Amino acid sequence: MLKGKKILLGITGSIAAYKSVSFLRLLIKEGAEVKVIMTAHASDFVNPLTFSTLSKNPVLTDLSEGNVWANHVELGRWADVMIIAPASCNTIAKMANGLCDNLLMAVYLSAVCPVILFPAMDEDMWLHAATKANMATLKKQEVQVISVNKGELASGLFGEGRMQEPEDMLRYLDHFFAGKNSLKGKKALITAGPTYEAIDPVRFIGNHSSGKMGISIAEEFAKRGAEVTLILGPSAIIPQGGINVVNVVSAGEMYEEAMKEMELADYIIMAAAVADYTPAEKAIEKIKKTNSPLTLDLVQTKDILLEAGKRKSNGQILVGFALETENEKHYALDKLRRKNADFIVLNSLNDEGAGFAHKTNKITIFGKEGEVNEFDLKLKEDVAVDIINTITKLKND
Ligand code: CTP
Repeated sequence: MLKGKKILLGITGSIAAYKSVSFLRLLIKEGAEVKVIMTAHASDFVNPLTFSTLSKNPVLTDLSEGNVWANHVELGRWADVMIIAPASCNTIAKMANGLCDNLLMAVYLSAVCPVILFPAMDEDMWLHAATKANMATLKKQEVQVISVNKGELASGLFGEGRMQEPEDMLRYLDHFFAGKNSLKGKKALITAGPTYEAIDPVRFIGNHSSGKMGISIAEEFAKRGAEVTLILGPSAIIPQGGINVVNVVSAGEMYEEAMKEMELADYIIMAAAVADYTPAEKAIEKIKKTNSPLTLDLVQTKDILLEAGKRKSNGQILVGFALETENEKHYALDKLRRKNADFIVLNSLNDEGAGFAHKTNKITIFGKEGEVNEFDLKLKEDVAVDIINTITKLKND
């Protein structure tokens, strides 16, 4: 996959630079052509000679050498992808603000290729509001920021901030190159968000789903060239990037739209948190408060996933979600069977940082052939990558 790919590898000042030595070896083994750029602080951690020996190219460090100017524009145009690993907190801040005080920044600012960051820093820095704001700025500029791992940090503390392992970085890059247009010609249908079941003109029964997980899946499908329809319940998030969004409010509306769209879809992902019950009748006028208790009669909504499982034809891949608080695996497998799905994505409310109203999620994917794929806690954007890689049977963790 990486044979002949031109890769710019930026190394910044972080102890995780030692992992980039292995990463570079893997890239070279895969047949990539790599040019390494180091910041001054990076060479405090690993000698440039190590990188130049492995890459078989001189390591670039300065904007000029003697009276020769390093052509950063040419470098930025040469590469198929620019990777900064480790990306220190300082470099991320400089990138977000467009500073240009070293060769790496000059190349970044003139690069026309995609840019991928593998950050590494201490947990306090990673979680600091300033770092988060800088990363949000970079993501808006289409820089791909890959989430960090949890584990022992250079400070001796345990927490988030470890750079990904070299093998995982390589896998990510493989997916990055495989992903471009790999789903061109395919159609994906996704349900996302909560549903609101009206009680009267001003009140409803709803839930805390933000819609983020399903929207991330829709965006990832679109990035891979698929034609995407997203049936979205009330959500504050605006989906990006060429997606056909069908806005709905209630479970009933979501059901109708999903049934209309499902026939032509190759991939059907039901990520919505659909209400299981809806008021038997919606009051036409606002219900007035009285001194007696109020009883609402609720009736079951139609189960969209269950119906899709009945109607699904050969070759269509149907994926459901399960959010459980107990006997997770048992219920997930039961859902897989009962709803005739091909995969069930389990997220447990018992996992810290997973589920509703979090930017992160921790999932296990169960397949109908008995496959079980367990993943670490990740940003929902990265979880979407794992889900799509699994259901499209791309090489994965
Ligand atoms: N789902 C659906 N339509 C519904 C209810 C749920 O399509 N009316 C889908 C969800 O989008 C999700 C999956 O079914 O993909 C699981 O939803 P969940 O509420 O956890 O499952 P239930 O079948 O309702 O089972 P239970 O409440 O007993 O856990």
